[in-house]
Amino acid sequence: MGTTADDAAVPWWQDAVFYQVYVRSFADSDGDGVGDLEGIRSRLGYLELLGVDALWLTPFYRSPMADHGYDVADPRDVDPLFGDLAAFDRLVADAHGHGIRVTVDLVPNHTSDQHPWFQAALRGGPERARYHFRPGRGPGGEQPPNNWTSVFGGPAWTRTPDGSWYLHLFAPEQPDLNWDDADVRADLVRTLRFWLDRGVDGFRIDVAHGMAKAPGLPDLDPAVVPVLTGAHAHPAADPRFDNDEVHDVHRMIRQVVDRHPGAVTIGEIWVETDERFARYVRPDELHLGFNFALATTAFDADSVRRAVERSVAAVGAGTPTWTLSNHDVERHVTRYGGGEVGLRRARAMALVELALPGVAFLYNGEELGLPNADLPEWALQDPIFERTGGAERGRDGCRVPLPWEGPPPTYGFSPGDKSWLPMPPEWAAHTVESQLEDPGSMLSLYRHAIELRKTSEAFAGTELEWYGAPPGCFAFRRKGGGLICALNTSDAPVPLPPGTTLLASGPLDGEELPPETAAWLV
Ligand code: NOJ
Repeated sequence: MGTTADDAAVPWWQDAVFYQVYVRSFADSDGDGVGDLEGIRSRLGYLELLGVDALWLTPFYRSPMADHGYDVADPRDVDPLFGDLAAFDRLVADAHGHGIRVTVDLVPNHTSDQHPWFQAALRGGPERARYHFRPGRGPGGEQPPNNWTSVFGGPAWTRTPDGSWYLHLFAPEQPDLNWDDADVRADLVRTLRFWLDRGVDGFRIDVAHGMAKAPGLPDLDPAVVPVLTGAHAHPAADPRFDNDEVHDVHRMIRQVVDRHPGAVTIGEIWVETDERFARYVRPDELHLGFNFALATTAFDADSVRRAVERSVAAVGAGTPTWTLSNHDVERHVTRYGGGEVGLRRARAMALVELALPGVAFLYNGEELGLPNADLPEWALQDPIFERTGGAERGRDGCRVPLPWEGPPPTYGFSPGDKSWLPMPPEWAAHTVESQLEDPGSMLSLYRHAIELRKTSEAFAGTELEWYGAPPGCFAFRRKGGGLICALNTSDAPVPLPPGTTLLASGPLDGEELPPETAAWLV
């Protein structure tokens, strides 16, 4: 999509609503039970109706799917499971036609073990220098080169038939690249240009705090670095992540992206402190960083307020971002208690998120109020389940395909009766069809909120002013436009701030804001 000179001063993404499409689970066009690019294209009308400004597409590149596409065997081609390059071009053109921008995932920390480089490296070729191969420790080199653990559980090293070990901070099928290698850097530049030339509007950068490893690959200190699996923040003392040299990679990416006016970079940054986070969003590095504060905060007004204040302070003059859920964490309806309670709280938090200045990232299905699905063990596919010996169930529960219309088993997700994860029988009430015309539905709430956010002048300005509020409540006002957002997480009704109500997450009680409810006023 074009960007004019005027836009450069106020970038299009500054207050955008992004919508994360987990490609496998959004819409399946060919009946194989897995979502695909044509499926997304067929639902662009829905996304326009919802009112989102941009999409983030999870990886659709050639991949053996050991980590559902985050193991990339060719970063410049589409996996046949999802379509082909022509389908991608059609999707971008049509999305732009609907006024929706398209950003794509970039996976620079690792490749698939089936990537031709890694296969050549295993055969002893010079491509070994592009990964981290090391001899083992102890007699016969039988012990891994250091004590690093994989984010998915178990050791971060796997031994090869020639006796050496290679590093993988995620699954063994995801060998880490060596970012000191010039070929590795040059290849990423090719990949960036390839997709920019095809018209993408930016990149979501996977494990943006990865890439650079501490020089010499020193052991991690188990007293400082907790052994955790899944998505979580890494302390600065973790030699695996957040090393200073990673910022060179982001500067290199930025130089390429800056040749395409309007293109945006958003990093997935799991670091422990706000100060460390801020280092990634400097003017010559990433435009935006994912902020997981709301995704990791309980439904409690004081904690939410603290998370908001800290997040705004952390980016300084930069743009804050907000996320309640994504494909790596439990869906927030469930996190907030599930059932009616979880839904009520999720509705309230949607209004909090969409009232805040900056960029909101929605995760597909949250606008339908989807909970995490409780899947039977036989259905689980996330490598975390296997790597932890079943101790952790992994992320499949938040990745179940979207229910569109009609009956189970696939509710219009697929023209066939297969879906790659089983869809719960009770999801009939969550379909788009059943919510579209219902003014009280979660979908209607999101549509209405996004429309107001786009059209009402009350949302102008980025500064927040906090009002005094009863315990368990808060109210902030956007200083520029005057929008007031009030949240009640206590168990008693409280007086609404003065003003005219624009929207509420649930029925209001006269001049009172009921428990587990948020309201917008001017
Ligand atoms: C973060 C992605 O969001 C997650 O889904 C993936 O498993 C890891 N990075 C590894 O690429």
